[in-house]
Parts: sequence; C-alpha cells; structure tokens
Amino acid sequence: MRKPIIAGNWKMYNSLEEAKLLVAGILEKVKDVKDVQIILCPSFTALAVVSEIVKNTGIELGAQNCHYQEKGAFTGEVSPKFLLDFGCKYVIIGHSERRQYFGEDDALINRKLKAVMGFGLFPIFCIGETLDQRNQKQTFDVLKGQVLKGLEGISLSDPLKMVLAYEPVWAIGTGVTATKEQAQEVHKYLRDLLSETWGRETADRVRIQYGGSVKPENIAELMEQPDIDGALVGGASLDPESFSRIIKFKG
Ligand code: PGA
Repeated sequence: MRKPIIAGNWKMYNSLEEAKLLVAGILEKVKDVKDVQIILCPSFTALAVVSEIVKNTGIELGAQNCHYQEKGAFTGEVSPKFLLDFGCKYVIIGHSERRQYFGEDDALINRKLKAVMGFGLFPIFCIGETLDQRNQKQTFDVLKGQVLKGLEGISLSDPLKMVLAYEPVWAIGTGVTATKEQAQEVHKYLRDLLSETWGRETADRVRIQYGGSVKPENIAELMEQPDIDGALVGGASLDPESFSRIIKFKG
C-alpha cells in the first residue's frame, strides 16, 4: 500500500506574513488528518518561518529547487546541504517552469537528483510533456527520456526516497486537468517503465503524483486511479480551504 502524498508548491508566491497566515490556516483545517502525507514547499525566504510553524505537526517541508554542488562560487544559488538547516526533507527537482524558463535539461536534473539524494533529501522529480508533444503522440517517448536520463546512475535502493510527479505542461496553471483516464494511462506507463530498470518491487513502491490544475473538484477521481498516489498542487495550494479539501479527498 502506498501512502497518499499531497504537496503544495507555492512557487513565487507569499511574503513572510502571507506565508504565516497560509500555514496557520492549513494547519487548523488538517490537524486531524493522519493517513495522508502533507508537504509544503514555500519559497526559500519563507522556509525558516514555515519550518518553525510546522514543527511537531506531522506536516513536512520541501524546497522548490536547489543547486547540485554542496558549496562554491555560484551566486544566487542554494546548496542542498543548506536546506537541511531548515528541516527540509523534500526538494522539487525538474519542475517544468525550471525546464522552460531556466534552461534546466535532463543532464542538469540528473546532477541535482544525485546531489539531493546524496544529502539524504527526497526529490519530487517532475516530468511532463507539452501540448505539442501530446498532439504529436510523443508523450510516452518524451516521458521515457526524462525518466531514464533524469535517473541515470541512480539505484533507487529505497523507493520511498524519491517521488515522481507527472505534470503535463499543458495542465499546469491552465485550469485544464488531464482526465482521470489520461492521467492513469501515463502513471501506469511510468510504473511499468520504472519496473523495467529498477524491478517490479521497487516500481510498485514508488509514489507517483499527478500535478496540473488539481482542485478540490477533481482530486477524488484522480486518487481513485490505481497508479495515482498523490498530487503536486500549485494554485489551489495557496488557499487553506481548497488545499485542505484536496488533502481530505476521501471526504
Ligand atoms: P497548478 O500547478 O496546480 O497551479 O496547475 C501545479 C505545479 O506546477 O506543480
């Protein structure tokens, strides 16, 4: 049984004061939730404050990005090691916005994945096809390339230490969600792909999140799919009401 895992990706939203209010609002609404793993990924500037507030609540902390080196002359970058100072456990790696706007490619993402895992952080490794690629029936090929290049040389000896997030680029921030059938088809493909390299037992234990316009209205049907284990939520994670309703998808 894979434990459901719901993560909020705040992107470049929330000042410190807004972050405090948002976490307090979420905590209030999900304090009784036990059977879902909850992760908040604020911007770097809010990590310290959010970390204090979620201490001993069961809610876990993630960053949205990091560098692949431990230290060095890399102006403006953040070392994965520094994230440990804030009690971060997770890091989003390879988000489509990083790929699209910051030129991150599979080789760089591979270095980042190796680095964060080397520091004992758990990556939320994002992959996804564009609308063009989907229309040209390249979805599976694109995803296969992203997964195999991103994870090259990584043993996945503990499958719980990496979360895969399937985020079709055309569904991110657009209000258009993949249908449950489209999402399940891809998630099953990804699990089978993982099993080809890392074995069935490992593939069956890796959690695969869906991301892209997840809302309270569509989370339940997505979570009913056998290979969808959670969600990476952007816009709807910025509101305590909608994010808590997503976390309480079982009703
Ligand atoms: P969205 O973003 O929920 O706003 O579509 C998801 C993501 O980018 O992780």
